[in-house]
Amino acid sequence: MASSAAEKSSEAFLAELKSLQEEVGEALKNHWVHLDSQVAKAAQYSLLLPSKRLRPIFCLETARAFSGSYDLAMAPALSLEMIHTYSLIHDDLPSMDNDDLRRGKPTNHRVFGEARAILAGDALLTYAFQIISEDEKISGELKARLISELAKASGVLGMILGQDLDIQNEVYHLEDLERLHRLKTGALLSCSLVMGGLCASQPEMVIEKLRSFGLEMGLAFQIRDDVLDLEGDEKIGKPLRSDERNSKATYVSILGLDGAKAEQRKWFERAIETLNSIEFRGPHRLHELTHYVIDRCV
Ligand code: IPE
Ligand code: IPE
Ligand code: MG
Ligand code: MG
Ligand code: MG
Repeated sequence: MASSAAEKSSEAFLAELKSLQEEVGEALKNHWVHLDSQVAKAAQYSLLLPSKRLRPIFCLETARAFSGSYDLAMAPALSLEMIHTYSLIHDDLPSMDNDDLRRGKPTNHRVFGEARAILAGDALLTYAFQIISEDEKISGELKARLISELAKASGVLGMILGQDLDIQNEVYHLEDLERLHRLKTGALLSCSLVMGGLCASQPEMVIEKLRSFGLEMGLAFQIRDDVLDLEGDEKIGKPLRSDERNSKATYVSILGLDGAKAEQRKWFERAIETLNSIEFRGPHRLHELTHYVIDRCV
C-alpha cells in the first residue's frame, strides 16, 4: 500500500534524526576516546551508547534556525550530552533510583562498580566545561555566558536541586511536582535551546522565549517519561515501573494515566504556541523535534 504524504514526511524526519544522532555520537567519540584511563573508559561506556541525543540536537537545530554555525554550536552541544549522561549514571546508582539497565545495557555501576561510576559521572560533568572553555572558535564573552547558563541549569539552581527534591519525595501537590520536573529535566533541556540561541548571537528577548519554550517542552517531555515508566515496552532500554518501585511522586501517581496525558498535551500545546511566537531565520526541525519528544516510545 502506498504511504501517505504525512507518513513520508515523518519517515524523512526520522531518517534525518538518525543521521543527526550519529553525527553527535561521532563527535562525542572524537572528543572522548583519546582520554585513556579506567575512569575515562567507564564514562565512555555510557556516553557512547546509542541514545536520542536530544539536548545536543536541540542546541544545534536552534543555532541552525537562526542561520548560526553548527561548528560553533558543536562543543556546547556535546557539553550538554556529557552533563546529561553524568546525570543518568548518578540517577541509576543504588543510593538513587537503583536501576540496572540504561540505554539498553547494564548501568554504569553494574559494569564498573559504584565508586568508579560516581567518578565517571564527575569526569563527564567537569569535562563538559573544559570543552567549552578550550574551544578556539568561541569568543571569551560567549564562553563565559555559555558556562554560566550551563552551570545554572545543571547545578544547585537547576538539575541537582530537582534531583534532590526527587529523593526527598515529599510531593503531594501538582505545583510541587511541576517545580521538581522543571528543575530536574526542564532546566537542562531548556538550556540546550538557550545555548543554541546564544551561539547564533540572538538578543535577550529571543533567548528568553527559547528558555520558556524549552521549559514547557521539558515538562511535557518528563510527563511522557513518567507515562512510559508505566506504559513503555522493552525498546525504552531502561527498567519499567522504576518509579512505582521507588514510590516516586510522578504525574501518573498524582493525576492518573489519563490525567497525566492531558497535562502532557497542555504543556505540548503551550510549547508549540511559544515556538510559533519566535521568528526564525532559517530552516529548522524544532516543530518536528517537539512532536517527536511528545510522541516518543523510547
Ligand atoms: C532520560 O533522558 C532522563 C530524563 C530526563 C527523563 P532521555 O530520555 O533523553 O535519555 P537518553 O539520553 O535518550 O538515554
Ligand atoms: C531523572 O528522572 C532525571 C535526571 C536528571 C537524570 P528519572 O529518574 O525519571 O529518569 P529515568 O526514568 O531514570 O531516565
Ligand atoms: Mg530519578
Ligand atoms: Mg531514574
Ligand atoms: Mg523516569
